[in-house]
Amino acid sequence: MNKKLNAAKKATEFISDGMVLGLGTGSTVEVMIEELSKKIKAGLNIKCISTSNRTTKFANKFGIIIHEFDSVSKIDLTVDGADEVDPYLRGIKGGGGALLYEKIVAYNSEKNIWIVDDSKLVNKLGNFPLPVEVIPFASRKLLMKFESMRLNPSIRKLDNKNFVTDSGNFIIDCKIGEIENPKELEKELKMIPGVVEVGLFIDVADYLIIGYNDRTEVLEK
Ligand code: A5P
Repeated sequence: MNKKLNAAKKATEFISDGMVLGLGTGSTVEVMIEELSKKIKAGLNIKCISTSNRTTKFANKFGIIIHEFDSVSKIDLTVDGADEVDPYLRGIKGGGGALLYEKIVAYNSEKNIWIVDDSKLVNKLGNFPLPVEVIPFASRKLLMKFESMRLNPSIRKLDNKNFVTDSGNFIIDCKIGEIENPKELEKELKMIPGVVEVGLFIDVADYLIIGYNDRTEVLEK
């Protein structure tokens, strides 16, 4: 917990008065939201945008109002977590199923910070199963396609039913192992009809904040 808290606290130092802030999804971001709520109560004036129903609910619980994505013209900074990060600050995201809105919000943000604990650092992406968000209509065919591509796919389940994302889609998790060329794979998968989004985030993070038990490290792209 200390690791996440250290990373989360460091991230709040990047947040200043008047900002429009994107809130990512996941347990590390939730630690950050709790810290942020203290600063807001103490007078910090910011506007928050959310990347998931989960984050919206969590932020509301701490008294943080979430504004509509369409109500702002730009987002100054987004703070998000990640499931795996390589030395080039490329990542796999979507373990929590929020990859689509996370990527849209990140794309519309001036700057993106990822907060992780040191367990998320890898030399090569791919040990964490790559989430691919797909249109339900195409999901069986995509499963077969990904099998033929040797991506070891499986449809994500929750309580024995297909997991459904905030935008009504399914997720296929691909247990690939080391991915030689993440950028190429992202492009290849996105070209397949029925694929909505891929959990490879290649040129997104500007800063990576790594939380250790007793310190943090900030890496810049
Ligand atoms: C959500 O869909 C993911 O992209 C999260 O950013 C990721 O799973 C990190 O979550 P934790 O902070 O809980 O590890």
